[in-house]
Amino acid sequence: MSNPAAQVSPGKATLQHSLRLGAFALGTAALLVFADNLTKAQIDLHRLEFEQQLLIQVLPASLHDNDLTANSFRLGPDSRAYRQPELLGLSTTRTGYLATMKGMPAGVILPFETEGYGGAIVLVIGIATDGSITGVRVLQHGETPGLGGQIDISESQWITGFNQHSLTDTPESKWQVKGDGGNFDQFVGATITPRAVVAAVHNALLFFEANKNVLLAAGSKKEP
Ligand SMILES: Cc1cc2nc3c(=O)[nH]c(=O)nc-3n(C[C@H](O)[C@H](O)[C@H](O)COP(=O)(O)O)c2cc1C
Repeated sequence: MSNPAAQVSPGKATLQHSLRLGAFALGTAALLVFADNLTKAQIDLHRLEFEQQLLIQVLPASLHDNDLTANSFRLGPDSRAYRQPELLGLSTTRTGYLATMKGMPAGVILPFETEGYGGAIVLVIGIATDGSITGVRVLQHGETPGLGGQIDISESQWITGFNQHSLTDTPESKWQVKGDGGNFDQFVGATITPRAVVAAVHNALLFFEANKNVLLAAGSKKEP
């Protein structure tokens, strides 16, 4: 004989079932949100680590003794604090850094952009106070691997060809690829990408020259 106290009415059973189902759905949703946040945090951390490694590559530790990330400033397409901000080709506001040695300005790291064969190319350039390039690296690009992709240090050393050069040692007419009469190598069958990068590096140097005093004096300047 069944125990009447243990019997559950059909209505109550449906309610219990619905409650269990609801709790399960809520738990699953919470787990998904947690996993999503964790993934985003890991991606942000990797991006930060990647950017910090690049900063050291474009302005080596031997040339400065400050924490670059603590001396950052914002640069954007409409930055009014600077002359000719359009020279950097920025499509959005990005971060620049002031390098110092024993409290004195040692150089800057500037973000800049150009349009390549496969879309926007985002780069950073390190420039010493004397206007010479300490390094250039690509942050993002959509160029074809084996062709324009060779601008990325992971594919070739081409980008290191800018090191030490300045507006003083390379006249205006030589800021081009060799095929156009300039000083910089191009890639076989892929001239569009290096042509765009050479012109953009030249423009970044012109921006530095036009804004040298502001940039070197105000590393902590916060641009809205
Ligand atoms: C599938 C494909 C991908 C290409 N990717 C690039 C590229 O990433 N960068 C580039 O400069 N040219 C690229 N090119 C070649 C360009 O269309 C163009 O021919 C070349 O840049 C011109 O260089 P050249 O004057 O040395 O021939 C690509 C061509 C094809 C068909």
